[in-house]
Amino acid sequence: MRIAVTINGKPMSADVEPRTLLAYLIRDEFNLTGTHVGCDTTSCGACTVLMDGTPVKSCTVLAVQADGTEVMTVEGLEHNGQLHPLQQGFWESHGLQCGFCTPGMLMTTYALLQRNPDPSETTIRRAISGNLCRCTGYQNIVTAVQYAAPLVREARTLTTEVGE
Ligand code: FES
Ligand code: FES
Repeated sequence: MRIAVTINGKPMSADVEPRTLLAYLIRDEFNLTGTHVGCDTTSCGACTVLMDGTPVKSCTVLAVQADGTEVMTVEGLEHNGQLHPLQQGFWESHGLQCGFCTPGMLMTTYALLQRNPDPSETTIRRAISGNLCRCTGYQNIVTAVQYAAPLVREARTLTTEVGE
């Protein structure tokens, strides 16, 4: 089947088998290997991407289900060489060790800050409850999101003011 997907703002298309999973479409067809596959069984969250703004575990979504959608992967976070505040936060707060879970953590928390740019610690912990990290103990990941939240709010305010 021929499918068309917008990935990180760019129109892409590919021929896929009906059984092809979105994670493998992204990694193998589009060479966006920032999306990791840790379990293939919807358990770890390493494969999380946004589909039309909603975080999905791409190892559990068929590529054909993504036909006509907008997908955002971890590669879509930085702009013009500038890290997203969440990426800065993970850097500053040492929110990763091996980094395997990090793309999924970033996409899940990006979606969180899009809908709630001032989350409580409990809300952050609940948001990442579907993303497993075997290295960090989660505390520095929470700290990284807390680092990013005011920067995201500030950027949003500036965008609103410029648009006025
Ligand atoms: S690889 Fe998709 S949830 Fe683990
Ligand atoms: S940093 Fe290693 S799994 Fe999270």
